[in-house]
Amino acid sequence: MKTILTGIRSNSVLTLGNYLGALLPMVRLSNEHSANFNVNIFVPDLHSIISDVDGDLQQNTIRTLKYYLAAGLDVNENVHIYRQSRVPAHSELCWILNCVATMGELNRMTQYKEKSEGKSSCNVGIFDYPVLMAADILLYDATYVPLGEDQFQHIELTRDLAERFNHKFGEIFTLPATTREQVAFMEVEEPIRIRDLVNPEKKMSKSTAAENSKIMLDDEPFKAAKKIMSATTDSFEDIQFNFETRPGISNLLYIDALITKTPLSEVVKKWQGISRYGDLKKQVANNVSEMLVDFQNRMAEISDEDVLKLFEDGEKYANEVANAKLLEVQKAFSLR
Ligand code: TYM
Repeated sequence: MKTILTGIRSNSVLTLGNYLGALLPMVRLSNEHSANFNVNIFVPDLHSIISDVDGDLQQNTIRTLKYYLAAGLDVNENVHIYRQSRVPAHSELCWILNCVATMGELNRMTQYKEKSEGKSSCNVGIFDYPVLMAADILLYDATYVPLGEDQFQHIELTRDLAERFNHKFGEIFTLPATTREQVAFMEVEEPIRIRDLVNPEKKMSKSTAAENSKIMLDDEPFKAAKKIMSATTDSFEDIQFNFETRPGISNLLYIDALITKTPLSEVVKKWQGISRYGDLKKQVANNVSEMLVDFQNRMAEISDEDVLKLFEDGEKYANEVANAKLLEVQKAFSLR
């Protein structure tokens, strides 16, 4: 069986960008395919500690899994849920892959450049982040890794490392699918990127300070609606969808399509050429706040105990699979 695998860090409450770009697609793919695929959903808590954590990491990790459940994840025997730090093979394979990756490759990673920009020093974890991510993926021979747009460069790196390793040692790792194949599997036209509401040139990010720029999943629904109503659009006369020239209004059309699970072309057709920007904003604001009410109610119904049980079961499976793969790699290097 092929494997679909993904993770979301648990540093803080998630944004609408995480929800639409990563959480919902993974839940949909898992529910659609888990009869015939292994589905691995893990919380990369070791990736969390590259930067500050809001609150308690273990509690946040539990909350991150609740997000999947509240978003509608069905769990069956093919769905495996685990915490990265409870499967030591991730850290060990990361070290080994550090001896395969080059400084030049990691220096080119956009996320590293962005996170280190303007800082006099930055921790090694930020630099090495994509190698740990490669280990997360390669340990389980994952083919599909649903992610938002900002993370696709790391999949390409994972492919390069696996290819280099296999070339030297034989076919030990499965290469994850190419970006184009990943996107086709996610059934989207291009990788998803939800924009900042104030500055739509940028992606929506939890680390942006301005409150109005992002919607958090624990925002009071009326507050989220207000943020949408005050989102930056443009001063053209009518609504058009074009991320290059009209990023703000296009972002709202895009959010609406994803939230209501309507094809983007349909949403665009409905609004294109209309001059009433305020009506579109109202519709998006209503849809976002209704989604939040529903989502937050479901979050409140999930207990910590239920989540911990899922983690513990999944970690047994994950350790078995990961240790078997790690042993193959160790043998290749004659460490065993
Ligand atoms: P993290 O926590 O930084 O991001 C989680 C997911 O949310 C997506 N995302 C967005 N998608 C669309 N629009 C946005 N504005 C937006 N902001 C964030 C990210 O693309 C990501 O899919 N490195 C991973 C965690 C990880 C991982 C892995 C994932 C560690 N190891 C192995 C898959 C496989 C990350 O970025 O997390």
